[in-house]
Amino acid sequence: MSNYYQSLTNEQLDQELFQLEQQVSEFRSMNLALDMARGKPNSDQVNLSRPLVDVLSSSVDFIDKGVDAANYGCPEGLPSARQLAAELLNVNPNNVLVEDSSSLHIMYDTIENAFTRGIGGSEPWYKQGTIKFLCPSPGYDRHFALTASFGIQNVAVELTKDGPNMDEVCRLVETDSSVKGIWCVPKYANPTGITYSDEVVRRFARLKPAAPDFRIYWDNAYCVHDLEEPADELLNIFDALEQAGTTNLVYEFASTSKITIPGAGMSWVAASDEDIAQLATAFSFHRVCPNKMVQLAHVRFLQDAQHVAEHMKKHAALVGPRFNLVFSKLEKSLSALDIARWTHPKGGYFVSFDGPEGSAKAIVALAAQLGVKLTSAGATWPYGKDPRDTNIRIAPTFPSMEELDQALDVFIVCVKYIAARLEKQHRQS
Ligand SMILES: Cc1ncc(COP(=O)(O)O)c(C=O)c1O
Repeated sequence: MSNYYQSLTNEQLDQELFQLEQQVSEFRSMNLALDMARGKPNSDQVNLSRPLVDVLSSSVDFIDKGVDAANYGCPEGLPSARQLAAELLNVNPNNVLVEDSSSLHIMYDTIENAFTRGIGGSEPWYKQGTIKFLCPSPGYDRHFALTASFGIQNVAVELTKDGPNMDEVCRLVETDSSVKGIWCVPKYANPTGITYSDEVVRRFARLKPAAPDFRIYWDNAYCVHDLEEPADELLNIFDALEQAGTTNLVYEFASTSKITIPGAGMSWVAASDEDIAQLATAFSFHRVCPNKMVQLAHVRFLQDAQHVAEHMKKHAALVGPRFNLVFSKLEKSLSALDIARWTHPKGGYFVSFDGPEGSAKAIVALAAQLGVKLTSAGATWPYGKDPRDTNIRIAPTFPSMEELDQALDVFIVCVKYIAARLEKQHRQS
């Protein structure tokens, strides 16, 4: 089936290109400076948590269940912080370590621990030669950059609408002992927004890895970030593990970065008894005292899962319209042309967009020239190499509605212009 530009005569295509070039020139002359690149909350979202800053003052007590938040100790996190973190993931608080603001930092330390000390009695990775990680793609660029920074070989695996292609994952994990991990964003994945199906979660839980030190890096960053009702439901991986009679297979991560204030919150990791004990020891060498005052402010502000859910509804009221604007503008301008596909997530922070083959880099470059910053094309793949050069991550949360509206107008013209130009080049070759 041909797309709109393929169906045009040469004269019609030239006419179309002429009009699009004019629109490009108009945008160029506007000297815009708009940012749809990173998944940052907008200032109204951050302002929802301003009262958090007032929760602590010189006149309140700093004691949480007998622990003084204002002194050394309690490296595993304040009791109430562990309780809240556990509640959000539906796990046992004893299996959770709460640290400072960034879950990415904990992921980094977890991998560093594997390199320097090894996991579960296995040799440290630095002695094991080639180490590979599976990277469901498109995926989160910072995950891929993290493992690449350790010299780990990132191996792309297909991400379907139900989660990673589990036939591929099983084959690689169960036959190759150099495969030590897989990056997963199981709910509202970055960037596609899909949530893993129950069957995918169960297949993860039933994995029989060739390497005893293989772990699933289950980054549940968007566990409470629903935008629409009914929200996606993710099966609890630890329940699935219990059913499968498996243990020591998952590290689960999350944080309050996009619940309260990025960089000033709490993050956590959950794992089996043995794995969490090992991480607690590993972290104890460099982290004797997490920022428990911030943890205290968080538990007093957020209280429990019910209050978090109410707080997240306020985020959804700010973010939902931005997502709807993306969906409606793309639908209105591009659907009939049949040159692109995009996802329709019910939560999270991103929309994943696929243009014609060989278009993504050119679209992102042209948008940058016109003053609209997008995530680099290819970033959603290991080593920045999208094999078909189609995928672009749209991050609609940060700009105001007016800015987003304008940024989308520019983006849509870029998509159309590059698609038409590709067709012209094809005809000339
Ligand atoms: C999937 C995913 N994990 C982790 C993070 C960063 O989390 P943190 O701020 O806790 O380091 C992000 C931020 O965009 C993300 O999309």
